[in-house]
Amino acid sequence: MGTEKEVKTNVFNASDMNSDFIIRKCTVEDLEGVIEVNERELPEDYPYFFYKSILENYPESFFIASKRKNPQKIVGYIMWRIERTPSLNGLKLISKGHLVSIAVSEGHRRKGVSTALLDKSMPAIKNDNISEYVLEVRVSNYPAINLYKKFEFKIHSIKKNYYRDGENAYYMIKEVRED
Ligand code: COA
Repeated sequence: MGTEKEVKTNVFNASDMNSDFIIRKCTVEDLEGVIEVNERELPEDYPYFFYKSILENYPESFFIASKRKNPQKIVGYIMWRIERTPSLNGLKLISKGHLVSIAVSEGHRRKGVSTALLDKSMPAIKNDNISEYVLEVRVSNYPAINLYKKFEFKIHSIKKNYYRDGENAYYMIKEVRED
């Protein structure tokens, strides 16, 4: 647990959402709520230790959303990890920010929650000196594809049979620009 001051600095209003929601860094106490949202909203589930290890390794880019009126109830989350892969000439390793998972509870969608989660987490994962942001998304997941396009992700390629049920994924990439 952080001090009251630390906790306050972790909390901010989700911009352009009339302050109905708060976005803050995830803590280990939040993981149960995160898993609840994941299991309700996405077919891709993970064991508890997976979430815990993402939180331990990438705490700065793991955010949750809750209603201002009920801050204990988690309605959305986003988590990232860093992937290191050889550069094209194979001489060095380059880092990519990989979006592991994002979801918002159905009753709270289309209110800018994901937009706020991406807005807050992308600069955080960028601090790990990544050259690009990458993600996979079901080719049928029109809302998510639209969301990523809004954030200037581009479809790079298709990963065949990426999901357990055989559905293909779009591999989407956004280059990191130095501002
Ligand atoms: N249809 C079309 N576009 C949509 C959409 C929908 N149902 N939902 C979101 N978008 C796009 C729009 O471009 C939207 O901008 P706009 O409202 O100005 O048109 C933009 O995403 C941002 O919307 P926002 O309100 O921030 O998104 P959200 O909080 O509703 O969350 C998802 C979007 C995809 C995360 C949410 O629908 C969800 O949790 N889906 C289930 C889990 C999932 O598919 N996760 C992604 C796995 S890769």
